[in-house]
Amino acid sequence: MLSLLDSAVCLDGVAVRKFMKSTLKSAVLILSTVLVASASISSIATAQASKKAKPVSYKQVQAIFTAKCINCHKAPRPRAMMNLESYAGVMKGNDDGSVITAGSPDKSLLYKLITSTGRKQMPPRTPLTKPEIDTIGAWIKAGAKNK
Ligand code: HEC
Repeated sequence: MLSLLDSAVCLDGVAVRKFMKSTLKSAVLILSTVLVASASISSIATAQASKKAKPVSYKQVQAIFTAKCINCHKAPRPRAMMNLESYAGVMKGNDDGSVITAGSPDKSLLYKLITSTGRKQMPPRTPLTKPEIDTIGAWIKAGAKNK
């Protein structure tokens, strides 16, 4: 009787071990799937980051100013004395001072105005699109160069 019980326990032991083995196997499988998935997600993220890091040329920035700003910001009487027709004009700023702080979008008045949602928003009442804002922000961050 005792030996029968013993073998039952033993059998159970085998069954438990088998069960553990298969659980472990699927755990490893799930884990590796997760790892592969996260690896590919991070490679997508890296691809996107490097896409973002692609330098913005001033030409792209001037195209936005030309399309959305110079109606009001061109010679001979630019609003707020702020001429946005050229790189020189943009970097010169106006009587209040410079509107671009190379390297720091958040310290640049021009960037603050295009991201503002208040009364001072530029252009007034018709905000730039997110890609336009991002283009100008990236250009300032990269040093606001004339190239
Ligand atoms: C419909 C006309 C209009 C358009 C379009 C417009 N602005 Fe302005 N902008 C103004 C006026 C008016 C002022 C003066 C506002 C004030 O003094 O409160 C001004 C002032 C500014 C100033 C100077 C702010 C200061 O305090 O010295 C900057 C910089 C500026 N705009 C940038 C832009 C940019 C960048 C765009 C395009 C994305 C743009 N503006 C589009 C009318 C316009």
